[in-house]
Amino acid sequence: MNDTPARSDAARHVGESRVTLSMLMGPTEANLNGNVHGGYIMRLMDEAGASAAMRHARRQVVTVAVDQVLFREPIHLGDLVTFTAELTYVGRTSMETRIEVLAQNLFTSATTHTNTAYFVYVALDPNGKPAPVPPLELTTPEEQAQWEAAKARQAYRLAQRRTPASRA
Ligand SMILES: CC(C)(COP(=O)(O)OP(=O)(O)OC[C@H]1O[C@@H](n2cnc3c(N)ncnc32)[C@H](O)[C@@H]1OP(=O)(O)O)[C@@H](O)C(=O)NCCC(=O)NCCS
Repeated sequence: MNDTPARSDAARHVGESRVTLSMLMGPTEANLNGNVHGGYIMRLMDEAGASAAMRHARRQVVTVAVDQVLFREPIHLGDLVTFTAELTYVGRTSMETRIEVLAQNLFTSATTHTNTAYFVYVALDPNGKPAPVPPLELTTPEEQAQWEAAKARQAYRLAQRRTPASRA
């Protein structure tokens, strides 16, 4: 592994780290109902989100928070599932990514939006300690709006973290 710190003060724009991952859902991913196992989808969401965060930070990252994974529709075996992850917010060492999941039936082209969730990652230095990440450059009003919403979500998470009852 290259241990050279990759920190750069130059801001990176949202599109620079966007990740799109498409996977065909095969029979090994089935749950007992014959649809795709939700845990497999969560794993791929995390992989897409972590890849976007690593692309931005150019460092190893760990997942520190997930909110929230709702399964709106079942995903069927044979569907092509596309995970799109992009950064919405960065702090000093943390990054929030928005992960959107679309499932497409390849025979009809019908596409279903099955999930959107926000995963937070922390960049790590070679000693496993939180490390600073580059600023995020916002280039559209939509990215600005995502940033504001993400900032409010992060403030809420940190308030929860400070609440003793949440550590039960
Ligand atoms: C992530 C981890 C390194 C953070 O360590 P820590 O001692 O809490 O470090 P800090 O308090 O300096 O926090 C680091 C960053 O995480 C953020 N953070 C910490 N807890 C958080 C939470 N519950 N929600 C959102 N962000 C959080 C902090 O706000 C800070 O971000 P900032 O630098 O942008 O302000 C540590 O909690 C850890 O190792 N957790 C386990 C991660 C893991 O194993 N994940 C699953 C497998 S990938």
